[in-house]
This record gives sequence, structure tokens and C-alpha cells, in this order.
Amino acid sequence: MIDPRSPDRAVLARAGALIRAGRLVAFPTETVYGLGANALDAEAVSRIFDAKGRADDDPLIVHLAAVEQVADVARDVPTSARALGAAFWPGPLTIVLPKRSNVPDRVTAGLPSVAVRVPDHPIAFGLLDAAGLPIAAPSANLFTRISPTTAQHVVDDLGERVDLILDGGPTSHGIESTVVDASGGSVRLLRPGAVPAEEIARVLAALESPVPLEHGLSARSASPGLMKKHYAPSARVLFFSGPAEVAREALRAAGERELAQGHRIGLLICDEDAASLDALGAAIFERLGPCADLPEIASRLYAGLRTLDAAGVDVICVREFGPAGLGLAILDRLTRAANHHVIHVR
Ligand code: TXA
Ligand code: MG
Repeated sequence: MIDPRSPDRAVLARAGALIRAGRLVAFPTETVYGLGANALDAEAVSRIFDAKGRADDDPLIVHLAAVEQVADVARDVPTSARALGAAFWPGPLTIVLPKRSNVPDRVTAGLPSVAVRVPDHPIAFGLLDAAGLPIAAPSANLFTRISPTTAQHVVDDLGERVDLILDGGPTSHGIESTVVDASGGSVRLLRPGAVPAEEIARVLAALESPVPLEHGLSARSASPGLMKKHYAPSARVLFFSGPAEVAREALRAAGERELAQGHRIGLLICDEDAASLDALGAAIFERLGPCADLPEIASRLYAGLRTLDAAGVDVICVREFGPAGLGLAILDRLTRAANHHVIHVR
């Protein structure tokens, strides 16, 4: 374990040397753990795909130590992207931009664009700084599995496949960066994440020539791995979407049915919901924090899914936490965890 407040320079120097030598280093960011390699070395980047079992057509995010380095990997950066970078970097926003030719096709899955972000974590910064290179890194989980929020999660998924794991303790946001595409004149939300869409829209609206934040996938951006099953635990996930009260009641009824059928069930719930679900005493309760505290719920979501999975439950019951703010990213990840079989209640 490395102290994130004053990371050991010798460890970072060794990690940076491994990156320069084409090896894989897993490292904490403020969102989730990443599996990093030299972004300018196609062979090193191939090792990421091999270690994760990741589909070749799913492009990677290029991580940079500082905003000024964006010009090293991207070109024609629009005013909108500059404003977003100024507002949110270092931080959990990823911006897709037209790529420079020095970025290998392996990184971008052959796309003419590259996704970049400047992470806000002292160990990630220390690694980028020591390597002196841009680092391509997806989340450090096996493909289709839940993103890792602790070093132990990385060990559980990838173990020996990684040359070094930098343990910086649990990550703070616990959910991936928000991805926007600014490569084609407009700005489009590709993946809701740790920066709420409302905050991005606010920055774009304040521009001298305001730009709307478009939602939904365009034909142009639909390709890269975004529609696939993702973030899936082994247990069956029953995800109830709708107003809190109705969703909680539907969850309770489904839980009772599952228990009556002899299934082992896990409840992924916020604190105040626990009281009204005591009829499900036989279930395993995994609490995510106060129902109104979305940052806390997001930060504990993946670890909660992994804990219930490891406990060997057959079914995980969970409800929506609203579509606003971080709720949108939570809703997106739970929809994927449920393999798109969302149970809508009104
Ligand atoms: O918080 C995060 O973003 C973490 C940490 C490690 O930085 N990384 C992460 O990477 O979540 P990954 O590979 O699990 O997700 C990257 C997302 C994918 O949905 C991918 O399709 C999208 O970014 N992406 C990457 N390059 C793209 C491009 N050129 N055009 C459109 N989407 C792109
Ligand atoms: Mg991922």
C-alpha cells in the first residue's frame, strides 16, 4: 500500500520504468483502478487487451499528467473541449478528440479519434510523471466484469497478468469517468459517469457561443464497445427502476418470492430502505449509505456488487436512485449489471 498523500518516489520510479519498458502497471485513479501501458507503443497496448480479454474494437482512454499534453495526442481541439478541460481537469471527465497520427490504431480501435483525460489522483499523476509518457488504460478488470475500486479487486481479476499493482487504497468516486465526444463539432454524452451531465451542460451553456450537450448515442459513436454487456456480476440482478417508494415495494415483493423459492438473495440498498425491508431478514444486506447521498452510493456500488457475488447469492435486488446527477451513471451501470433486463415500475 502506497500513501496517496505522499507516494513513495522510488516505487513510482520503478513503475514508470516498467511503463517505458512496455510492461503493464495497474494504478489507482480517482474513479476506478486502471490497467496502464505506454500509449505510444502498440505492442505494449496489445498486452492490455490480452490481459483483460478485451474485445479489439473497444478503444482505450489515454491518460495525461497535465492539460498541456493534450496537444501531444490530439489535434483541432474545439473551444468547447478546452472549456471542459479547464473546468474539470484534473478530474473524472474523458473527452474524445480528433487523434494525432502518433497514437497507434491499437489504442483507438482504428477510430480517427482518441479519448483523453487528466486524472486527479497523486499516484496516477506520479506514475504519469515518472513514465514521462501518455498512458493508455482501461479499467483494470476482466472484460465484462465490474470495474475495480480496490487493489484487491485487481488482484482477484488479473493477478499474475499484471507486472505491478500500485495499491493506493479504495478509490474515491468508485464509478468511471464521464465520456463526452467533442470530435465532430457537437458535444455528445457517450457514457454518464463521475461528473454529472448537468455540470457539463452548465459549462457548455456559459460559452460565448453556447453549445448544447447532446444525449444518446449517434451512429458515429455507437460502435466502441458501449452497447455490450458490461459490469456484470455472476448473480442474476433484479433492477427496479421507478419512483423510490414503488421501486422499494416491488423489490420487497420480488425478494419474498425469491426467498420462497429457496434462492439466496442479496440486497444492495441505501440505509433508509433497510428498515422497510426487514421482512427479508434471510437476505444478505449490503448497505450503500444514506439514500440521498449519491456520491457515497456510487463509491460503494461496485464493491457492494462484488461482495454479494463473492457471498454466492443467486439473486441481487437493487433499486434506482433517480436519474439526476450521479443517479444517471448509477442507473446506467445497474442497467448493464442487469444485462438490460430492467424492471420498470410506476
Ligand atoms: O474512469 C475511467 O474512465 C477509467 C479510469 C481507469 O480512467 N477508465 C475506463 O476505461 O473506464 P474503459 O476502457 O473501461 O472505458 C473507456 C470508455 C469505453 O466506453 C470506450 O468505448 C470509450 O471510453 N472510448 C475510448 N476511446 C473512444 C473513442 N475514440 N471514441 C468513443 N469512445 C471511446
Ligand atoms: Mg471498463
